[in-house]
Amino acid sequence: VAGHGARIVLEDGRELVDGTGQGSSAILGHQHPELIEAVSRAASAPILTEVNASPLRDEAAELLFEIAFTGEAWAGAVRFCTSATEAIDLGLFLAQTVTGRAPLVARDLAYHGAAGLARDAGTHPLWFGGLASRTGGWQTAPGHAQPRRLPVPSCGSGETGDCTNAGCRSHCFDDAVALLSGAAAVVSDFGSGAIYPSPTYQDQLAQVAHETGTYWLQDEAVTGFGRLGCWFSFQRANSRPDMVALGKAFTGGAVPGGALVLSEDLVAEIGDRRWQTGSTLRGNPVTLAAMTTVLRIVERDELVARAHRLGTVLGDLLTDLASAHPSVERVGGEGLLWSIELRADRRHAANEWRGDGADQPFSKRVSAAAVDHGALVSTSGGSGLWLAPPLVIEEDELRLIANALDAALSEVEQREGSIS
Ligand SMILES: Cc1ncc(COP(=O)(O)O)c(C=O)c1O
Repeated sequence: VAGHGARIVLEDGRELVDGTGQGSSAILGHQHPELIEAVSRAASAPILTEVNASPLRDEAAELLFEIAFTGEAWAGAVRFCTSATEAIDLGLFLAQTVTGRAPLVARDLAYHGAAGLARDAGTHPLWFGGLASRTGGWQTAPGHAQPRRLPVPSCGSGETGDCTNAGCRSHCFDDAVALLSGAAAVVSDFGSGAIYPSPTYQDQLAQVAHETGTYWLQDEAVTGFGRLGCWFSFQRANSRPDMVALGKAFTGGAVPGGALVLSEDLVAEIGDRRWQTGSTLRGNPVTLAAMTTVLRIVERDELVARAHRLGTVLGDLLTDLASAHPSVERVGGEGLLWSIELRADRRHAANEWRGDGADQPFSKRVSAAAVDHGALVSTSGGSGLWLAPPLVIEEDELRLIANALDAALSEVEQREGSIS
């Protein structure tokens, strides 16, 4: 019912540390006074649809490039959207249009959004967009398109590979040229499905995309705006994408919003052709006000450096947690984005479970127990927990989350014995 900073208040008066950041969106925390003020002020401005030119939109675009994309000279244009899902759908459709190719490529266990081509590019079994039966089984729409699939990178599953040793390279890239050849776009991200590709992986993938004439869209829905200790995940490596999709933190989670950023080269490819797409609420004044406020605060309060510093603390806390609990299989992440993979029963394994059945997965039971110890922690499928707290979180609040998880894991482990 209320919140402040990284805290969220329940109806019964209990106050929890919000380790979820509301799906990673609430980077400024809850009820940030400057965000409330900016959004309220914008709500009293005239209502403008995307088809009306607006100086407000131009200024917001300039500010996005000036603050978040500083030093990224390759970035050429931005189209505001209503969500990351929409930005990804728009980008993939644009790639199909420009290349005249239909196939899309994504890696296994990836999630990119809930509608359109963003949903079609998703490969995570759980968020497939269809119906899961409470008594078992699932159903999806006939003809539901599937992307071509890259394997989960070895470096993302907790192994030490970084694409430089031969085994690692062949696991990820032996089939990549064939997969990307004739495809319109490859979409990649850092973190969905608890997979964290290395910088070298990104550079290798970018190279294959370049060689095959396939556009590369980087999904920064979760990682954009500082969460990893850099403005965007692609900045961890040397290569640069053709398109970047933004959302979530883009408006601090306060109002819907997202954006698709295009490279100069892609803008040149479009040339003087008109891009025949419009949508009523894209670039809405309230969205723009939220975005510009978030940009200014992230810069002024040095939240990117803060995410980097606190990420080291959180990483250490979670590593300790993993060594203390037999039910933890691995932890992974960077900055203020981490996941804890649990030894769940096979039915709820990340690469299998579709959300069906009556029984509550292990991850849900741990997350419910964590609430009793003062922390709100998301599940990531049946076998994972996901931490993406506000960037304004305090160090002692991170400790509180780790302690709550420690207590919750102990409780569930004791209650249920060993995990099969
Ligand atoms: C990696 C990733 N990409 C894209 C999306 C889609 O974002 P939204 O649901 O805000 O459109 C999500 C949502 O969770 C996500 O985790």
